[in-house]
Amino acid sequence: MLVFNQLSELRQWRKELALQGKSLAFVPTMGNLHEGHIKLVEEAHKYADVVITSIFVNPMQFGQNEDLDAYPRTFTADCDKLKAVNNHAVFYPNAKEVYPNGLDAQTYVEVPDTAHSLCGEATQRPGHFRGVSTVVTKLFNLVQPDVAVFGEKDYQQLRLIKTMVADLNMPIEIIGVETVREESGLAKSSRNGYLTAQEKTLAPALNQALNLVKQAVLNGSSDIDALEKLATEFIDEAGLKTDYVLVREATTMEPIADSHKEIVILAAAYLGKARLLDNVSFKR
Ligand code: PAJ
Repeated sequence: MLVFNQLSELRQWRKELALQGKSLAFVPTMGNLHEGHIKLVEEAHKYADVVITSIFVNPMQFGQNEDLDAYPRTFTADCDKLKAVNNHAVFYPNAKEVYPNGLDAQTYVEVPDTAHSLCGEATQRPGHFRGVSTVVTKLFNLVQPDVAVFGEKDYQQLRLIKTMVADLNMPIEIIGVETVREESGLAKSSRNGYLTAQEKTLAPALNQALNLVKQAVLNGSSDIDALEKLATEFIDEAGLKTDYVLVREATTMEPIADSHKEIVILAAAYLGKARLLDNVSFKR
């Protein structure tokens, strides 16, 4: 498996691939890889001749009081997992090369509607999604993939990337992959590592709450406020602290109307040192 630290090495390799007429699929990550990330790599193989994964803990998407320094860095173990699924190349740059002018750059990429709702609201993670759309644009410019693969686990992020690629005419197909879960229903996440053994037993309540609401909507419940409140109580009673539970139209993430058929229920909650995120989407 090839590992590129330097942007110049990556660019040279990309040129050669193009000359060979090979297509390229890209899986951007922040490392500390688990089965969710690995599923993305396996899916990526279906769409292109060659698969490249990036490992870069992007400083721009972390808030001031967030876990940038504590974020787990496990490069050697990550590479072993990637080799096992025939990932061809890893892009592992340092922040100085990705941000040559530091984080106070002149140019950002922002998708305002998506960036400022839900997880992007000022009270939650201001600037988070601007950091995501900016770094993903940089990575796309560097890697120049034909296809890029993202998890549905980060639903708002996936919507944001799809909107950005359409709005900016980026010639990249975006693939969404279903969330990989523990047997308990808990969505796999690098941040689950922050949970104690006891917290891990409480964490599945988030997914249970989403499924309760889903079932109620499928059974014809239309009092969305009441359902969101019910789910919030369920999560809080389990010992987590709900950040939000929202029932939305799946593509726009706007509040739902009777005519809407594609639904997503999104939730975030705090548990110990972790902020857990989950969603379920379905047709009614
Ligand atoms: P990271 O949290 O490392 O996630 C990398 C990719 O893995 C994302 O597309 C995410 O949605 C996906 N993923 C995480 N957990 C998953 C699970 N349980 N099932 C399926 N897919 C899962 O998301 C980021 O990094 C960053 O914001 C990034 C896009 C790399 C930009 O910095």
